[in-house]
Amino acid sequence: MQRSNVDITNLQIGFGGLKVLENLNLHVDASEFLVLLGPSGCGKSTLLNAIAGLIDVKGGEIRIGDRDVTWAEPKDRGIAMVFQSYALYPRMSVRKNLSFGLKVARTPQDEIDSRVGEAAKMLRLTELLDRRPSELSGGQRQRVAIGRALVRHAGVYLFDEPLSNLDAQLRAELRVEIKRLHARLGATMIYVTHDQIEALTLADRIAVMQGGVIQQLDTPKKIYREPANRFVASFVGSPAMNFIRGRIARDGGLAFIAGDARFDLNGYAFRTPPSDAPAVLGIRPEHIEVIGSDHPSAVPARVEMVEPMGADALIWCRLADGTAFSFRSDADAQARAGDTLALRFPAEAFSLFDDQSGQRL
Ligand SMILES: Nc1ncnc2c1ncn2[C@@H]1O[C@H](COP(=O)(O)OP(=O)(O)O)[C@@H](O)[C@H]1O
Ligand SMILES: [Mg+2]
Repeated sequence: MQRSNVDITNLQIGFGGLKVLENLNLHVDASEFLVLLGPSGCGKSTLLNAIAGLIDVKGGEIRIGDRDVTWAEPKDRGIAMVFQSYALYPRMSVRKNLSFGLKVARTPQDEIDSRVGEAAKMLRLTELLDRRPSELSGGQRQRVAIGRALVRHAGVYLFDEPLSNLDAQLRAELRVEIKRLHARLGATMIYVTHDQIEALTLADRIAVMQGGVIQQLDTPKKIYREPANRFVASFVGSPAMNFIRGRIARDGGLAFIAGDARFDLNGYAFRTPPSDAPAVLGIRPEHIEVIGSDHPSAVPARVEMVEPMGADALIWCRLADGTAFSFRSDADAQARAGDTLALRFPAEAFSLFDDQSGQRL
C-alpha cells in the first residue's frame, strides 16, 4: 500500500465574506494518524474537505505525496473519505456497497473480490456481506462505510467525525477498531473530531483548532501535559483542568499568590522569564493530593461536595478567596462537605498562563 504525506501551505478558504481558514500550514507524515480536534464550527471539516478536493481554496497549496493537488479532482488525489453519516446504498448488499466504487473505476473482478474480502475480514464484516444496510446495526453500518474507503487503497484516509452518530459503547468499540486498523495498515489517516477522548486515544499527533487557527500541534501527551495556551488547556481533559487567578511573586522563593493561598513554583519549567503580571495557574484534578496540614507548602481548602465517579471520586473544593476547583481522590475518600483539607499542588504539574494573552508562561 502506498502511504502519502500531506503538505498544506498558506491555505486560505472562505465562504462569501466569511474567512474560515487564513494562512493555515500543516504537515502530515506518511503513515501518521493525525487528529484535527476542536469545537463545532472551528473549521475542521472545511480543512478536511479542502484536502479531499470537495471545496475550492482561495489561496495556498495542498500537496499529497509530493504532488501538487490544489486544483486536482477529488478522484485524482489518492484519497478516500469516511463521513459522519454512513450514506450507504440502501438497496445494495454490504458486498455491493463495498465493491461499487471499484466497479465504477473498472477494477478487474478478481482484484475487487480480493480487496472486498480483505477489508471485510479486517472489519469483521465477512458474515454480513450478503445483508442490506437496513439489516445492520449503526456500528456495523459505519464499519461498512470505513470498509468502502479501505478498498480504495488510498494514500491518505480522511475521516470526518465517523463515530459521532453512535452511542457511547459502540463509539468506544469502533475507536479501538480504527486504532487497530491503523496499526495494521500503517496508512496515513487524518481524522476530524470534537471529542477529546477520541483524539487522545487515536492520534500520533493532535492539531487543536479554534477559530480556523491551529492552536497547538503536538503528541497527545504534550497536548495534555503542556498545553500551549488556555484554550487548549480547557478543551482537552475531563474532568477539566482547574484554573486559579493570581500573580507570580518573589517572596523568598518563586510563588503563585491567589488571595491568601500561596503555591510554591519551585520546579515549574518557565518558558519565559517570570514577571509579576497577572497570571492563571492551571492544574489537573489528578495532580492535587491531600497532605499533612503541618507541611510547609500545604494549601488549605474547604470541601463543598464529593462526586463519586466509580473507580475514584471527584472532590469539589474552594480556596479561601472563593476559587472553586476539583481533585481526584480514591473512591473511599473520607472527605465530607464542610471539611477543611490541606492540599499539595505540585509545581511540576502546573500550567501557568499569562492572564491577558492566555499563552503558556
Ligand atoms: N458551505 C458553506 N457555506 C457557508 N459557510 C460555511 C460552509 N461550510 C462551512 N461554513 C462555515 O465555516 C465555519 C467552519 O465550518 P466547519 O468547517 O464545518 O466546522 P467544523 O467542522 O469544525 O464544525 C463555520 O462558521 C461554518 O458555518
Ligand atoms: Mg465538521
